[in-house]
Amino acid sequence: MENTILKIVNLSAGFGKNWVLKNINLEIEKNKVIAIMGPSGCGKSTLIRCINRMHEITSGAILEGRIYLDGKDIFLMPPVAVRRKIGMVFQRPNPFPTMSIYDNVIAGYILNGIKLKREERDRIVEETLKKAYLWEEVKDVLYKRGVFLSGGQQQRLCIARALAMDPEILLLDEPTSSLDPKATSMIEELIIKLKKTVTVVLVTHNRAQAARVSDYTAFLYLGEIIEFDKTSRMFTAPKDKRTEEYLTGKFG
Ligand SMILES: Nc1ncnc2c1ncn2[C@@H]1O[C@H](COP(=O)(O)OP(=O)(O)O)[C@@H](O)[C@H]1O
Ligand SMILES: [Mg+2]
Repeated sequence: MENTILKIVNLSAGFGKNWVLKNINLEIEKNKVIAIMGPSGCGKSTLIRCINRMHEITSGAILEGRIYLDGKDIFLMPPVAVRRKIGMVFQRPNPFPTMSIYDNVIAGYILNGIKLKREERDRIVEETLKKAYLWEEVKDVLYKRGVFLSGGQQQRLCIARALAMDPEILLLDEPTSSLDPKATSMIEELIIKLKKTVTVVLVTHNRAQAARVSDYTAFLYLGEIIEFDKTSRMFTAPKDKRTEEYLTGKFG
């Protein structure tokens, strides 16, 4: 593929003696939204935690295979550098509870001891909150704590915190599963707009969500990629019987 940003080659991963992911091969194109879809427990979170090198810090973690970011083996890069280029947002919004909205946005810089001039910090906070469609709602309360925001606003704050580091890839692990429909559709709109500047890998067990926001979908089942295709094609003409059964709600 010409515009490949991330290439996963023969990746297997698990815990103890249990291989959760079995020989995953996946090539992800730049500036697209890729949905990783599949029933609960199939290995979606494990897969994206491999991509930003978080899986390997879990106790008992086992891992084989290679992952390339822009052609470079991520396992030969310092983990901190990988996580700067590949940001992640989790299922439950988790702004740092003692930090203001402002500090949450630049938390990556604070925690990494990266010093910024006042004007530069202000600029990053404003630009990033605008990118995350949160600026208008919080610009007058930047010094209030992030945890006072609504769930949907907190999740957009967490997206802003990841975007502030200017990542190449944004990993979203079921980012709307704790949100109401209105907050969910705001995040979905945001995801679609974000792909102009970042490649988004969206984990979801919500088929309708994958159909609404993604360009490509990987259907993961029992730790294997059963099918990977353009989302429009997979949802209209799945090639594998298991994909079809999943899409028509026969399981999961
Ligand atoms: N820290 C862990 N230790 C042992 N097993 C785990 C751990 N985390 C996840 N698992 C197991 O790995 C499998 C895949 O989990 P996960 O990747 O979280 O699935 P999904 O995100 O698709 O729901 C599940 O069977 C789960 O129980
Ligand atoms: Mg999960």
